[in-house]
Amino acid sequence: MCGIVGYIGERNAVDTIINGLSHLEYKGYDSAGIAVPQGAGVTIIRAVGKLDNLKEALSGKEIAATMGIGHIRWQAHTEVNAHPNRSDHIVLVHDGIVENYKELKDKLLNAGYQFQSDTDTEVITHLIHSMYKGDLSKAVYDAVAKVKGAYAVLAISTKEPEKLVAARRSSPLIIGVEEGGYIATSDIPAALEITRDFISLDDGDLALITPKNITIYDNTGKSIQRSTIHIDWDEEMAERDGFDDFMIKEIHEQPRTIMDTLRGKIIPDEGRIFLGELQELDVANLERIIFLACGTSWHASLLGKQFIERYAHIPVEVDIASEFPYRDLQLNKNTLCICISQSGETTDTKVAMRSALDKGAQVLAICNVVGASLAKESTYAIYTHAGPEISIASTKAFTSQALTILLIALWLGERRKVTDNKQIAEIFKDLMIVPERINAILEQKEAVKAVADQYKDSKNFVYLGRNLTAPIALEGALKLKETSYIHAEGYPAGELRHGPIALLDKTFPAMFLAPGIKVQESIFSILQEAKAKGGRVVAVFSEKDRDNHPECDHALFVPDCEVEEMAVFLTVVVAQLFAYYCAKGLGRDIDKPRNLSKAVI
Ligand code: M6R
Repeated sequence: MCGIVGYIGERNAVDTIINGLSHLEYKGYDSAGIAVPQGAGVTIIRAVGKLDNLKEALSGKEIAATMGIGHIRWQAHTEVNAHPNRSDHIVLVHDGIVENYKELKDKLLNAGYQFQSDTDTEVITHLIHSMYKGDLSKAVYDAVAKVKGAYAVLAISTKEPEKLVAARRSSPLIIGVEEGGYIATSDIPAALEITRDFISLDDGDLALITPKNITIYDNTGKSIQRSTIHIDWDEEMAERDGFDDFMIKEIHEQPRTIMDTLRGKIIPDEGRIFLGELQELDVANLERIIFLACGTSWHASLLGKQFIERYAHIPVEVDIASEFPYRDLQLNKNTLCICISQSGETTDTKVAMRSALDKGAQVLAICNVVGASLAKESTYAIYTHAGPEISIASTKAFTSQALTILLIALWLGERRKVTDNKQIAEIFKDLMIVPERINAILEQKEAVKAVADQYKDSKNFVYLGRNLTAPIALEGALKLKETSYIHAEGYPAGELRHGPIALLDKTFPAMFLAPGIKVQESIFSILQEAKAKGGRVVAVFSEKDRDNHPECDHALFVPDCEVEEMAVFLTVVVAQLFAYYCAKGLGRDIDKPRNLSKAVI
């Protein structure tokens, strides 16, 4: 996964691009590079390792350019494989994968091109060069038409100074617009110091950008207007805000992001919900809902199943997005597939969405990143408005996703006359207190840290929940394994007796998620069994059970709730904090866990 930034305008291009790349470091950190035209030539500087190494390579060089392109990359450990790369007068950065790389490379080799790197990107660079007949944008258009796979590219030519060409298909690329220039980048935080106004390119679009103008062409080559979206995020939202890591900052943001997700969607006292995004949906004839997602978004989907079945009485399935295209399913427009993705760019989820559309279903995308591909291609789209999530470990996106699905479940239920406004108002009454309850947990985070310190050296962990907390068990285990590298599994608690209990001993602890939910008593009995068999047990209970919970080695508590669904939002925060403090205690690179990237493209 890579991040790209291109700038053209009145600013110093090097400073603008480096600053932009610094906000994309979460995308990749094995190499970085920059190219800026200088007179009739171009200066290209690349460095292996973190962005600081590129900054070091640039230090002392006064480069007065007002346009250029930059790149930050995951999995490029040699300078030659870092971007930008060059074919004579063409210089390019690329984010994506060229699937027909071999075939294109063979043709270019036959045409006499010599390859310097092992990258698939170099194929595009030479291809543009081979098609260049005096018009950079035409050459890029013709070249990317031959590419199979995903690309977001930024290209410049020393023969056409003052032109930046940007094109995308299946990889993210947005263009920030300001009075004196344009910044093209993979993600919004890279541009926030310059602008809040963005043009989001559609799949197949190409933009020809000069210091004062932008012209966009669609995939048929027709000049087209794309609307400008205003993003409310401020710079601080994309920064660490004084926290050690983005993960802990984003955990702390949840009281606010929960309210941001709700903003404009509800009148709490009246139990009314406004989802204008779904006004065209034929709710009465909806027969079936299928959630499609990966990772944390899949765990949010598992909660979504419970919410929708409970409040709207519609049968729900949940599929791992990467498995869905292989199912033999007969769908029609009365099936709604709900694709959840924080980034909206996860390839597995996008492929599943396209498969669902091909099979005749309608698709609702729930995304956090505004203008994401998933939102653009789906039938309906709802944004979670959790703000930029930088940490690879997803936290605030999860609570916003879960809340969005709860709203959808209640909205569907109300329209199908399964749930009435009075019931919804009761739920909202408790929901409005969730932010302050999360704050109460955050104020007690040292208690979670103290317990995490006792468990951080474990090599294995099992998380157990039932009904509403079963998805939280999966999510807690994922958070722990990806941030601390402790092997952890999540199970519905009942499954413990069907095998995993054999693993439990003093070195293999279990985390029971048993806050005040209806099935709490039944989790208690499984917990007691685990303890009786010699297991080491940590558990999350409700405050009301503080003096009266089953025996365990360590207990953590969440505030009491009237509506049991609300306990989910509190329990997951404890699981997030627990994972964070285990990882912190182990000295892990929390925001950038090894082998992972923010969006799996
Ligand atoms: O952007 P998405 O929500 O589609 O991403 C899905 C997963 O890749 C993501 O949730 C991943 O599991 C996170 N690292 C979890 O913290």
